[in-house]
Amino acid sequence: MKSSVRTPIKQVLLAREPAADICVKGWARSLRRGKEVSFLTLNDGSCFASLQVVLGPELSNYDQVGKLGTGACLAVKGKLIESPAAGQKWELQAQEIEVVGGADDSYPLQKKRHSLEFLRSIAHLRPRSNTFGAVFRMRSQLAFAVHQFFQQRGFVYVQTPIITANDCEGAGEMFRVSTLDPERPPKKDGAIDWREDFFGERTGLTVSGQLQGELFATAFADIYTFGPTFRAENSNTSRHAAEFWMIEPEIAFADLAADCRLGEDFLRYLVTYALENCQEDLAFFNERIEKGLLDKLEDLAKAEFRTISYSEAVDRLQNSGQTFEYPVAWGSDLQSEHERYLTEQVFNGPVFVTDYPKQIKAFYMRLNDDEKTVAAMDLLVPRVGEIIGGSQREERLEVLQQRMAAQGIPEGSLDWYLDIRRWGSCPHAGFGLGFERFLMYVTGMENIRDVIPFPRTPGNARF
Ligand code: 4AD
Ligand code: MG
Repeated sequence: MKSSVRTPIKQVLLAREPAADICVKGWARSLRRGKEVSFLTLNDGSCFASLQVVLGPELSNYDQVGKLGTGACLAVKGKLIESPAAGQKWELQAQEIEVVGGADDSYPLQKKRHSLEFLRSIAHLRPRSNTFGAVFRMRSQLAFAVHQFFQQRGFVYVQTPIITANDCEGAGEMFRVSTLDPERPPKKDGAIDWREDFFGERTGLTVSGQLQGELFATAFADIYTFGPTFRAENSNTSRHAAEFWMIEPEIAFADLAADCRLGEDFLRYLVTYALENCQEDLAFFNERIEKGLLDKLEDLAKAEFRTISYSEAVDRLQNSGQTFEYPVAWGSDLQSEHERYLTEQVFNGPVFVTDYPKQIKAFYMRLNDDEKTVAAMDLLVPRVGEIIGGSQREERLEVLQQRMAAQGIPEGSLDWYLDIRRWGSCPHAGFGLGFERFLMYVTGMENIRDVIPFPRTPGNARF
């Protein structure tokens, strides 16, 4: 039977009428044994639901099958008939069953409720659970939706480099990439001589594809990147990963307002896509993970996104009568408790915070006329906080050079970045959406470790 063509269970369950000679292959979720008849639930990941398979003693290997455990990989051929049982339309009456790969009682994913923490410790097996089946199917569909949104709008998809010599965000959170012998690195004047390294200079894993994205935006006007991003920040929170995926559109001939509009359209598109295409998985999240999730998503699909300037936000926070762990002062960055207060208590929905003080934002953001703030925006959403960070870029060569000097960034390392301001410079803007933060929002999952297949966080790179 190994050679028989399988039908995905998703397709089997959509049948309009009974059918003979159906072959399915998948993994046993449970087996209820009986003398007369046994019931097997088989799942192949094609959809949330499992297929009920009815096994009778006429099967030549009924005794062997009766000893099967949860987790076994099975191929079944049989007749699809209307199920007399409640809650399911179809069941498969097995005529032939083959054990493709057995599983004994030590299989860790037995049929019972497991904590998300425990499932994280078996990240190699957790895709076979209900929750993670739903998470990773949605992750796949929404990745497709990301491309569809931009491709429909004529954006060019750019693969920006993963190894780079530039710390785009200037936060000093890069992982080093090196082939030097860590025991005996070559030295010059007492310091490591990076010119001897593989690339002839210090390199690391990218924290953002933006700088290269900007180069392409000054050739194709509208571009996007979608790739892995790495940050060696030692923050062990439920919203930070050392390796995460980011989507970064960059648009020429655009200001901050146009950037916010794109962010709003994009988020609304993704949420609408999920509502239309991931109903079965979303129904599970709505019932078991975040009550009210569907209403929240439907609201967002219709919601008007609000905008508030950083200065106004600081006023609101200072006059809120709330006590925060971190004090609020103009000039210091908003902490996640402040962000959540704004989006959850003040606006009860998505809100753009714009025009931050220049000293707390990256060098590339466009200086506003007040010379104190930059044309930055963060989009905050309830429960997750910052989901998008972006800005209009500084397109004026001299102003950019001054900003780099003020932040101690040597011009030599970014001469190519400055060149697009030398020749054919134009106003442009862009943002980054953290794909995992978005998935947390859309599934209701509360920990970033539970929306990425194999999370990388401080102290954890297993699997
Ligand atoms: O705000 P960030 O640092 O912005 C940039 O990297 C810009 N270069 C983007 C641009 O303008 N093209 O990061 C953007 C988003 C954040 O809003 C957040 O959603 C996500 O990336 N993010 C993280 N997600 C998971 N783990 C981390 N450690 C993250 N750091 C940022
Ligand atoms: Mg940010």
